Amino acid sequence: MAKIAPSILSADFSRLGQQVGLIEKAGAHLIHVDVMDGHFVPNISFGSTVMKSLLDKTTVPFDVHLMIEAPEKYVADFVTPNTRFITVHWEACPGLDEMIKKIHGYSISAGISINPDTNVEVVMPYLEKVDMILIMSVFPGFGGQTFIPSALEKIAVLNQVRHDKGLSFEIEVDGGITLDNVDQVLDAGADIIVAGSSIFGQPDVQKAAGDFVKRASER
Ligand code: DX5
Ligand code: ZN
Repeated sequence: MAKIAPSILSADFSRLGQQVGLIEKAGAHLIHVDVMDGHFVPNISFGSTVMKSLLDKTTVPFDVHLMIEAPEKYVADFVTPNTRFITVHWEACPGLDEMIKKIHGYSISAGISINPDTNVEVVMPYLEKVDMILIMSVFPGFGGQTFIPSALEKIAVLNQVRHDKGLSFEIEVDGGITLDNVDQVLDAGADIIVAGSSIFGQPDVQKAAGDFVKRASER
């Protein structure tokens, strides 16, 4: 069954705990935590203190997406008992082998993400070492952008390689996913769907999250 990871980037930060409660009630599987530094991406979001403020508000695991330069300097800040994944960008992390070891050293699953203009081949050397590959289907930096269809081909390539080599990494997809295109993303082979504005941007957040969870559970 596929999983849903609502991105709190699009949540109402003035009542974040309550908003996270809604997606928990809807059965969301992960909380996607978008961390932006204003260098790797042209926007600043929030840091680990905001994520940690949710520790006593939810038991839904954190799925940390670090859109930052020099992630090795900050990764430890995101280690909590509730952190399931920490994902770094291939484009921002020259020492990926070290980083994967570091994340695993905290008993947390490690992910690598690639931007829409990065060839999927760059992650091939890491598929046996990581727990997840995160395919960006928008250029990172902002919620509410339009899905870039070339992501579908990357998902399909990874899904095929995973099958052929008998590997078990998960495929996550992030950016521009709506109830209108989520089936295409799932059909291509995605396991984890990130949705920001399609959930937290909706008037009824719990219902929107529930609709995604239902769609994922039909797989
Ligand atoms: C983009 C972030 C995404 C974003 C998704 O830089 O990594 O997680 O919040 O938001 P939507 O679903 O609105 O594209
Ligand atoms: Zn993200």
